[in-house]
Amino acid sequence: MSYSSFELLDHSRPIVVFGRDGQVGRALQICLKDLKVPTVFLGRADCDLTSESSIVEVLNRYQPQVIINAAAYTAVDKAEAERDLAFAINAKAPELIARYIANVAHGILVHYSTDYVFADTSQTAYLETDIAGPLEQLSAYGQSKLAGEQAIEEAFNLAHDSGNAKCQDGLPRYLILRTSWVYGDGENFIQKILRLAAKHAQLEIVNDQIGVPTSADWLAKMSMQMIDSNIESGIYHVVPDGETSWHGLAVLAIEAAIAQGECLDAKPENVIPIPTVEYSMKVRRPYNSRLNNTKLKKALSSVSFTEKYPEWQDQVRAYIKENVVKFLSMGMVGESH
Ligand SMILES: NC(=O)c1ccc[n+]([C@@H]2O[C@H](COP(=O)([O-])OP(=O)(O)OC[C@H]3O[C@@H](n4cnc5c(N)ncnc54)[C@H](OP(=O)(O)O)[C@@H]3O)[C@@H](O)[C@H]2O)c1
Repeated sequence: MSYSSFELLDHSRPIVVFGRDGQVGRALQICLKDLKVPTVFLGRADCDLTSESSIVEVLNRYQPQVIINAAAYTAVDKAEAERDLAFAINAKAPELIARYIANVAHGILVHYSTDYVFADTSQTAYLETDIAGPLEQLSAYGQSKLAGEQAIEEAFNLAHDSGNAKCQDGLPRYLILRTSWVYGDGENFIQKILRLAAKHAQLEIVNDQIGVPTSADWLAKMSMQMIDSNIESGIYHVVPDGETSWHGLAVLAIEAAIAQGECLDAKPENVIPIPTVEYSMKVRRPYNSRLNNTKLKKALSSVSFTEKYPEWQDQVRAYIKENVVKFLSMGMVGESH
């Protein structure tokens, strides 16, 4: 994929990516490798997002025109006890970054959000226009991510209303990419399942939480495509086509690993579906995590995006095909054989 608009950016101002060492951050590193625009990837040690002065210092130093914020407080269970920390990273930091992009850089902000902003108010896939919440039914993580979305939208609206956002060439712009069930280079559900399937003949996996598994690599590519295509500001649901339960994902992952020649103790038929009530969870997870991707597809077709839109199954199979040997060598899969 080539990114023509990026070549039009001011090359004296790098793209700054927060969250270098996360799953999406790592995928972005690969995706941005061949771009002819300088890019700075920042980890926690380079910029602690709980520190306003650290954020301001980094923005002053690099003066980026484009910021991709892949950093977040993502420990869903711990967030209940570390609420202030979750809000500092997931809401306050994005607000500061959004104010800078809207008022100073007049550039582009890409920020990631989550299905956890919804609390089972629908039986079908959520649209971007569906009202998030209700707040009291969201986890602390979900509340902090929703507060982050709202802070970004407000920062851009305020800049626009006050005339600070000198609009030209569709800038400044924000893209809030809500996604779900992400897997990439990092600890995730698929890795855990394969590790368990290598050790246990039978697994019990929840089958009444439904969502869309999303490849971090694909999400990174879509992020670049959306920046490059001048897609207008707003929230977008960025997930592949299809849906499944955690049980469905586990079965497909095991099937795909076996198809690659892996010898696992648990066969697909030994993955037993169980309801959420039988699985102890510290924090309530949404039953319905489905995000409707129609808005994104329409936006992409309006910019003549011609690549085939993916199905989640194909992405999971490709991920396992590419990574199962690495998992093996790390002693993660097949370690008992
Ligand atoms: N994973 C999912 O299933 C999922 C689903 C829906 C939405 N999302 C969203 O997608 C985005 C990326 O998620 P991910 O899966 O890539 O998350 P991740 O793997 O947990 O990575 C998050 C990154 O944020 C960094 N970070 C945390 N606190 C920080 C701080 N105080 N200062 C600077 N950096 C800090 C972490 O740094 P360290 O490496 O130092 O810890 C980590 O590298 C997030 O916005 C998340 O909410 C994820």
